[in-house]
Formats: sequence, C-alpha cells, structure tokens
Amino acid sequence: MKPTENYTNIPEDFKNFKAEVKVASPGRINLIGEHTDYNQGFVMPSAIDKKIHFKFRKNDSDNSARIYSETFEIYVEFDLNKISKSNNSWENYLLGVIDEIQKSGKTLTGFDCIINSELPIGAGISSSAALECGFAGGLNSLFSLNLSQMDIVKLSQRAENNFVGNNCGIMDQFASVMSRKEHFIKLDCESLEAEFIPAEIQNCKLLLLNTNVSHNLADSEYNTRRQECENAVAIIQQKYTEVKSLRQVTFEMLEEFKEKIGATGLKRCRYVLEENNRVQESEKALRSGDLKALGKLMYASHRGLQHQYEVSCNELDFLVDFSEDESFIYGSRMMGGGFGGCTINLIETNKIDDYVEKVKKAYQEKFNIIPTAITVVPDEGTQITKV
Ligand code: GLA
Repeated sequence: MKPTENYTNIPEDFKNFKAEVKVASPGRINLIGEHTDYNQGFVMPSAIDKKIHFKFRKNDSDNSARIYSETFEIYVEFDLNKISKSNNSWENYLLGVIDEIQKSGKTLTGFDCIINSELPIGAGISSSAALECGFAGGLNSLFSLNLSQMDIVKLSQRAENNFVGNNCGIMDQFASVMSRKEHFIKLDCESLEAEFIPAEIQNCKLLLLNTNVSHNLADSEYNTRRQECENAVAIIQQKYTEVKSLRQVTFEMLEEFKEKIGATGLKRCRYVLEENNRVQESEKALRSGDLKALGKLMYASHRGLQHQYEVSCNELDFLVDFSEDESFIYGSRMMGGGFGGCTINLIETNKIDDYVEKVKKAYQEKFNIIPTAITVVPDEGTQITKV
C-alpha cells in the first residue's frame, strides 16, 4: 500500500496527543573533513543546538503507522506490512528506517508520531540524518527493540543508501547520535573510533550562512564523486592489494598511477588525501587554541572543494571570497555535500551582527536571493525521554 496523504484530516485523537516517548534529534555541522567519510578518512563534525522534535505513542492497531508533520502540515498513514517507496522524498527517510528495522528481524506494531522540525532543509546541516536517527531512536525506545546507538547510526545510514538512494557516508548519522555538548568529534571513518575534542573557540562563534540555493546536481554529482574515488582505488589495488580505500593510498601511489587514473580522478584523490591531512592538522590547532591556524585550514578545505573536488557553486564561493578580506573571520568554507547549502564561518562574536548585515546586502545584490544566518553551538546527540 502506498502511504495515504491528507493535508487537513488529522485524526481527532491526535489533538490530545499523550506521548510515551519524546525525542530531540539534532542537525550537524562539520568543522572540516568534507567528502572524506565515504573514503574511510577523517571528519570533524558535531551535533548542533537546532533539532527535529518527535513525539511517539503506540496505537491499538497491529500495523498502522500514523504520522503527522507539523512542519509540513502533512498527515500520512503507512501499512507496516506493506512498506514501499513514496514519491514524496521526506517520507522515504521514515519508510527506509521502518524497512531497515524490519529487515533486522525486529517487529513493530501500530504507532503514532508527530514531527516538528527547526532545521532548514537543503542547508547542509543534515536534516535527513536528524529525521532518520530521531525516528529510529524513538521507535527503538517505544518498542524496546534493544538497538544500540551504533545500530541506530548504521541502520539510518542504510535507510538513506537503500531507500532514499543517496550513497552517503556515515558522518551525519554518527554526529547526530553520538555527539557531546561543546565538543567536536574527530571521527576515523575507517575504524569508527571517535575522539571528542573540546570546542574551545574563545572569542569566536560558528556562524552558518545559508545560500538558500540547492542545485539539483547535488545527488548525482555526489554519487559520481564517490565512484571516481572508487575507480582510482580499483586501479591502485591491482598492484597494491592491501589497499581497500583511499585511506591506504599515498601521494606516491597516485603519482605512480596518474596516467591510468586520469586528470580528473587524480584531482579528486589528491583532494581527499590533503583533506585528511587537514583534519589531523585541525585537531592540533584546536587543541592548542590556535584559531588562526584552524581558520587557514578551513579556507584551504574550501579551495580544495572548489577547484579539485568541484562540488562548490558560485553562491558558496561568493560567501567564502567575501569573508576572506575580514581579519575577524578566521576561516570559512562550504559545508556538507555542496552545490548549495551553507558556509561555516569561524568569526569573532562581537563582529557577527555588522558582518551579517553587510554580507546579506552584498549577496542579495549579486544573486537576488536573501541568505539566512544562524549561529550554532556544538551540542549533544539524540536525546530520548520516556514519558
Ligand atoms: C553529505 C553526506 C555525508 C558526507 C558529506 C560530505 O552530508 O551525507 O556522508 O559525505 O555530504 O562531507
């Protein structure tokens, strides 16, 4: 059965919704380490203080999932025995999670859920991982499914890979679930070992500037980049059989196989190796309180994404270029998959208001689009409360 949508007829009994489980599921930022997660490299994300809120309760049915999005004002019903893809992409994040829970041998019975989101969509702060992980975490608690946090991270990633069709890495789901307040996670995406680094950014804040564009290249180019990296690995593996991913590849190996890999593949791979090094350097800069050094690494990351990995766009480049002349902005870079979404800026706190006004005006003059600005704080991962 396809989900039935109804924009107005919310069931009468949703008006007095007594939740059994409440979930606050955060979006994420990524300080540095972009497009490295699916190459088994390093990333440095954190959950943020902006979230999707869920309320769950069981209903009396065996197989009816009734879900209301307050944000979209959309009501949907799914038959848990007949889960199939929807034409409405946001529903597929939920359907994918249900599907993965069922595939893992767990049983769900009827439930109701209300969703309310503070997260802008397409802004590069991973509202999708927040939706998947919050939904999975809530069902885990409601039905005592005994899934670990790591199960939820992996299951949510699989939901996105298999059901939504985005071949994403693990960074977003890991950050949304596992983060700690006022820390960045330095995550090794190969071993999944995480180090929590205090987010001591002194007189600065993290400012997100949303381009408010989302070019539709994003999904196809994302999967293409992934493929380009995997193709290079396959070439190198023919001689160096121990190589499993770009993580084990060195600059010398790239040099050795540069003819076979080709100019484009080479640019992509070099970027990934350099970005992994930048994450390592950023950890040092952050731990020693050298925010200027950290900022330089952020700029270098952006330039790599712009020129070598080629996942930026004019709007993002404009925002980064604009910040570069300001001594009170230490670093700025595009964040997330690219082709739109937002930049993350490390900026002195007392300069934020004036700068936001200035950059908004300039951006609007250039693109005739009003950008949005929010400051974010590294925050804890998914919070689940049994009521
Ligand atoms: C998206 C994906 C992540 C990651 C980033 C790029 O957010 O979901 O897995 O690959 O892009 O760093």
